[in-house]
Amino acid sequence: MLTGRSPSTASVERARPDVAVIGAGPIGLAIAWRCAARGLRVVVHDPAPGSGASAVAAGMLAPVAEAYFGERQLTELLVASAARWPEFAAELTEATGAELGYRTEGTLMVGLTGDDLAEARRLWAYQQGLGLPVTPLRPTELRHREPALAPRVRGGAFAPTDHQIDPRMLVPALRTAAQRAGAVVVSQAVRRLADVDARVTVVAAGCGAAALTGLPVRPVKGQILRLRAPGGVTPGFRHVIRGYADGDPVYLVPRADGEVVLGATVEERSDTSVTAGAVQRLLRAGVDLLPDLAEYDLVEAVAGLRPGTPDNAPILGPLPGRPDVLAATGHHRHGIVLTPITADLIADLVTTGVPDPLLAPFGADRFGGVRVPSGAVGRGVPGGSELTTEEDLWS
Ligand code: GLY
Repeated sequence: MLTGRSPSTASVERARPDVAVIGAGPIGLAIAWRCAARGLRVVVHDPAPGSGASAVAAGMLAPVAEAYFGERQLTELLVASAARWPEFAAELTEATGAELGYRTEGTLMVGLTGDDLAEARRLWAYQQGLGLPVTPLRPTELRHREPALAPRVRGGAFAPTDHQIDPRMLVPALRTAAQRAGAVVVSQAVRRLADVDARVTVVAAGCGAAALTGLPVRPVKGQILRLRAPGGVTPGFRHVIRGYADGDPVYLVPRADGEVVLGATVEERSDTSVTAGAVQRLLRAGVDLLPDLAEYDLVEAVAGLRPGTPDNAPILGPLPGRPDVLAATGHHRHGIVLTPITADLIADLVTTGVPDPLLAPFGADRFGGVRVPSGAVGRGVPGGSELTTEEDLWS
């Protein structure tokens, strides 16, 4: 159990942090903020803070629309974290004065063709069966809510509690909040756990966690586009829209400043190149759902790497046999929505030493034995990887 220090204790152990966080993406920074706010001495290591996949992510807070078959425990965690977002966002704005692009209009889920709608309806029925708020809409209701949708969109449903935030506003705000609470951000790569000297180390390094810890975290590539409404006006639609267009899953996220985020591919690849075929498919699907998009400026095409795990759920808690090393990684498609609950549960674990029951399904030991890479245990052991602490969260 770690508690905040008295000044006299702090002066004796000034050099040694209570908590070292590896990775300055939203998860790492939020954990640092929460720990520093509890009086702990916190250092965050990242060679390029906030430059990982959170800089690419759309920022959907979508526990309902992203509730997929076979992921019930993950869905419960997503719902619990989404419920914390209003307070988390308010606290963050109060701590920093920063706008976060937090919008609560909700999400429209749509199907373009009859086949798309059949597929979507199957998922909506599953989501409703879990008790999640999904309201099927008649075509007239759908068009009333979002007149810019293409007339040939066959049908839709409304997820009123699926919101959005802008990760490019969120991450700088979290960094400011963490630093104001006393955390120190060091622009430095950590290549081995052995190089970190702290009472507790939190690995929030996205895909980089694999080489540091031996955890089964793999990169899952996502290509994503940013468009801008001509003349800088707000986009002609206000809900997050997600659905299927001729078999392609797609989402569109409108921002108040005229930006529209259009994503995303899901590819079992580890490169971040942007391909013509992916751009074509995303644009085709987006314009089929919202024809006005054809007039928008295409301002960015990028790719990021989601940290995927064998069961698509995050890894939260101590490494097997290493109670001093906590994983907070593997958030795959859900890094932004899971930021508040991850930060709270990990900060609680650091300060009390007692794992919250919510952590139970997400332990690092659920995949069997984890072989911590050589050089990762003990100080100064040679042979670690050349990993940098790229932060690879995604939402
Ligand atoms: N959660 C959206 C994505 O991963 O593309």
